[in-house]
Amino acid sequence: MTYKEAEHRLKACGQEQVLRYWKALSEKQRKALLAQIATIDPASVVRCRAALEAGVEAVDNSKGKAPKVDVLKGAALKRAVEAGEKELENGRVAALLVAGGQGSRLGFDGPKGCYPIGPLTDAPLFYYHARKILARELRYETTIPFYIMTSEANNAATIRCFEENDYFGLNPDDVFFFTQGMWPGMTKDGEIILDEPGHIFMSPDGHGGLLAALDRSGALDDMKERGVTSVFFFQVDNPLVEIADPAFTGYHVLKDSDYSLKLCAKSDPFEKVGIPMKFGSAYRMVEYSEMTEEQCLRKTPKGELYFKYGSPAIHVFDRDFLAREAKEAMPLHLAFKKIPYVNEQGKVVKPSEPNGYKFEKFIFDILPKAKTAAFLAFDPKDEFSPVKNAEGKDSPDTCRADMQDKWRRMLAAAGVSCAAGVPVEIDPVYALDAADLESLGLLLLVD
Ligand code: UD1
Repeated sequence: MTYKEAEHRLKACGQEQVLRYWKALSEKQRKALLAQIATIDPASVVRCRAALEAGVEAVDNSKGKAPKVDVLKGAALKRAVEAGEKELENGRVAALLVAGGQGSRLGFDGPKGCYPIGPLTDAPLFYYHARKILARELRYETTIPFYIMTSEANNAATIRCFEENDYFGLNPDDVFFFTQGMWPGMTKDGEIILDEPGHIFMSPDGHGGLLAALDRSGALDDMKERGVTSVFFFQVDNPLVEIADPAFTGYHVLKDSDYSLKLCAKSDPFEKVGIPMKFGSAYRMVEYSEMTEEQCLRKTPKGELYFKYGSPAIHVFDRDFLAREAKEAMPLHLAFKKIPYVNEQGKVVKPSEPNGYKFEKFIFDILPKAKTAAFLAFDPKDEFSPVKNAEGKDSPDTCRADMQDKWRRMLAAAGVSCAAGVPVEIDPVYALDAADLESLGLLLLVD
């Protein structure tokens, strides 16, 4: 991109001030700034600015109803498992991981997926995801293409982690990395923020950036060519997730659903998870922060929480639904943050108070667009223990404890007693469940 082209692009969205230090920049800095400007889509900048000027509309959630949530048991469970197994055997299932987040709460320097979570092996989060996919591929003699969304900040390190670990046993031809978009931060007045005289402050466009990135990267076409119809979506921070599990996949297929969600009973009324609600005939995800205290505490006549179920962000999407929605604009969410900026004297300032906005899209904002949505309850102790914080709740310590409890339950179900506190780790390729352990014999890693 030339200077003239950059100027033209910035003019199109009223942001010419981005070039105000041009004269003072070195040749190298100029090149880097032009490259950054080339990634900016003026239409998105105009949308972000308009969202800022309009302010966040307070959404009225007071009429939201709890959705009907299914529980699979007996014959219904058997039917779902059979349908899911068929979908897997026919190569119609893909795994889709969002791993572009910055993981700032954990304070880990690197992609969150590289965080060493293995209780005995220190294996990274990516290991458990990849090995579970491989285990299902081996079990169903199939291919489950694995699509991984990264961001500009962690893409190279993510790919390096897979390469250094020989893709954890997966076929590299079936692993597809793609990067989400980055959006510039803005001042309260809607001006793009420079965090250095020759550098625009940019941040990932949220996990909802997934749709545009899937489209742009060719991943949606790749899915189509491979005959994928069911796309299993999960987040990088939860090593307990049962990727492409047949029951959930089959449930989604039998419901002929566009968007299926696994839900778990909240551990407390104020748990920080999204809550799906029904408004008329459509559903919408309401973030915990948007609920009133009264809604959080509301009870049924039986004394149960009315909004009992939260979303751990484990979904199955219909591929064509994703392709359809990838062409549509998504709502914007604004976050008021501390963003470094260049002051009047050309000096970089690190503010102590929030001073600017980041913009994000959330994938669950396409829920109201689903022609059919379906909700399935599951037990969080088996499938949900995210690594969010450095300490306390949802930390590496709680996650490692939950992983080991799950493996101990598997061992117990396979007839091996394993006292609480005995360290244990099981490679998912060795055994995904108790039945695998029984049929294969046992290997216990005890330090
Ligand atoms: C998220 C959900 C919440 C859900 C909870 C379950 C939101 C706003 N909330 O909360 O409803 O109950 O998880 O654990 O998402 N990511 C990207 N790119 C981005 C931002 C995030 O790929 O630009 C990825 C992260 O790498 C991660 C996932 O999205 O895998 C979730 O991001 P995170 O910011 O940790 O979400 P939470 O606020 O914890």
